[in-house]
Amino acid sequence: MTSARTRLDRFMSQHLGIKRQKIRPLLAQGRILVDGCVARDVQQTIHQFSHVIFDEQVLQDHKPCYVMMNKPKGVVSATKDRHHKTVIDLLKREDRHTLHIAGRLDFNSTGLILLTNDGRWSRELSIPENKIYKRYRVEVEKALDESYIRAFSKGIYFNYEGITTKPAALNIISSHVCEISLTEGRYHQIKRMLGHFQNAVLELHRQSVGNLILDQDLLAGQSRELSKSEVNNICNIEGKVN
Ligand code: URA
Repeated sequence: MTSARTRLDRFMSQHLGIKRQKIRPLLAQGRILVDGCVARDVQQTIHQFSHVIFDEQVLQDHKPCYVMMNKPKGVVSATKDRHHKTVIDLLKREDRHTLHIAGRLDFNSTGLILLTNDGRWSRELSIPENKIYKRYRVEVEKALDESYIRAFSKGIYFNYEGITTKPAALNIISSHVCEISLTEGRYHQIKRMLGHFQNAVLELHRQSVGNLILDQDLLAGQSRELSKSEVNNICNIEGKVN
């Protein structure tokens, strides 16, 4: 697969095994089509999903793919693992090895996990400045109280990285259950934030990412493709920490 974006002359020279200077005459002869249009500019950007034809031969035809899965416990959020099943192993589709994970969940965490072959989309989801809130239902060992809400909204200092976490929302649902909304995805972030109170996580389930809510009827281990509007609207949120 092509890197995320490249210039047309570089793309063609790589695919045809000829020098970049030889591409201009091919353009002048109208022999290269990009997304159904005759290409004229050597500097035209070719994206990962541009459809490129040369003399009726298809050089690139990658379809973007976006999948939601209800991750079960005991499965690794990785593309390969020597000891355990991965979320990729749970997919039935043939192109599963071309997908990557957009936002990992820990081995024993459950819920919404997204898989895609679109690096731009997964990067957008992970940038805290885009304020895409990931919401989790979390069950803890010890009783919660108001001080958790204040600490989460102020941010908690992580010694290892030397950073303070971005403001997060914590809503107490019952004495030992809360909902947490975060824009970041640091390693074991929720466990470590609750670790600040010496409170252990018993269950951690991701319910949503941005506007996208995990389907209620998707059983653990099941997955489905996202619609175009789900893909496009996932980021259109006015996430607010209360
Ligand atoms: N925070 C965690 O600690 N674990 C997860 O799986 C997700 C967020």
